[in-house]
Amino acid sequence: MRTVFGVFGDPIAHSKSPDMHNAAFRELKMECIYHAFRVSPEKLGDALLGAKAMGFGGVNLTVPLKQEALKIVEPDPLSRGIGAVNTVDFRDGMKGYNTDGLGARRTLEEKDVPIRGSKVLIAGAGGASRAIAFQLAKDGADITIANRTGKKAIDLASDVSAVGSAKGCGLEKMKELIAGSDILINCTTLGMHPHTEGTIATAEDMHPGLTVFDIVYNPLETRLLKEAKKAGAKAVSGEMMLIYQGAEAFKIWTGVEPPIDVMKKAVLEGL
Ligand code: ATR
Repeated sequence: MRTVFGVFGDPIAHSKSPDMHNAAFRELKMECIYHAFRVSPEKLGDALLGAKAMGFGGVNLTVPLKQEALKIVEPDPLSRGIGAVNTVDFRDGMKGYNTDGLGARRTLEEKDVPIRGSKVLIAGAGGASRAIAFQLAKDGADITIANRTGKKAIDLASDVSAVGSAKGCGLEKMKELIAGSDILINCTTLGMHPHTEGTIATAEDMHPGLTVFDIVYNPLETRLLKEAKKAGAKAVSGEMMLIYQGAEAFKIWTGVEPPIDVMKKAVLEGL
C-alpha cells in the first residue's frame, strides 16, 4: 500500500507540488503518492487529524492555511517566529516546520552567493518575505526590509530582530539601499503575470557585484531579472525556491534527499 502525502490549500488546483513530489517518488521507486486537497481554514484541524489518523506520511500547507496551522500543530522555533507553517510531520504528534526560507537559502547557496555577513535587501513584507527574512537573519545576514507600506516592514524587522540583524523602511530610498546591498530579493508581487512590466528596481539602480533574486516564477524571467542582467548583476530566478522548499519538506518526512533535477523538470513542464 502506498503512503499518501499531500498539499492542503484553497485554491489548490494549480499547485506544482504534486508533480514535483510524485516525480521524486517515482525516480526513487518509493511506494508513495502526493495529492492536492482543497481545505478551508475552518476545516484545517479536522483535515490534519484525519490525515494523521489515516496514516499520511506528511503534508504541505499553502495559502490560506499557513498561519492557521500554528494553532493546531506544534511549531518548531523557526516556524513559530515566522508565524507560518508550510510542512507538517505526523510521526511524533503533529510537528510544524517552515521550509520556505530554507528554500531561498539553498537557492542562493547553489549559486555560490554568500549569506553570512552579506547585506540583504528584501522588498516586500508579506508571508514570503517573513520566511526569508527570518531564515537569512538566523544565518547571519544583515537584513533590510523595504515595503510600500513602511509600517509593515518596520514591524516585521522588529520581529526578525529576535533572531538576527534587521531594519525596516518604506520604498522611498530603494536606489541608495540597493547601492549598499550585496543581495536584493523581490518578495513583492511586482512583475508577476499578467502585470509583467512591473519591477521593484531598474538596471540604473543596480551594480555588477549585486545578486538579484526574484521569488516570482511566473514568468520565469521577470522584468527585474532582465534589468539585473542589463546591469551585469547576478540574476537568480524563483522556481528553485519552490523546488528547494519542497525538497526540504521531502527530507523532513522521509530522511531522503530527493533528486532535484527530476523535481525541477517536473515543475518546469507544469509551468
Ligand atoms: P506573499 O504572501 O506571497 O508574500 P503578500 O502577503 O500578498 O504575498 O505580499 C505582497 C507584497 O507585495 C506586500 O509586501 C505588498 O506591499 P504592501 O504591504 O504595501 O501591500 C507588495 N506589493 C504588492 N503590490 C505592490 C506594488 N504595486 N508596489 C509595491 N509593492 C507591492
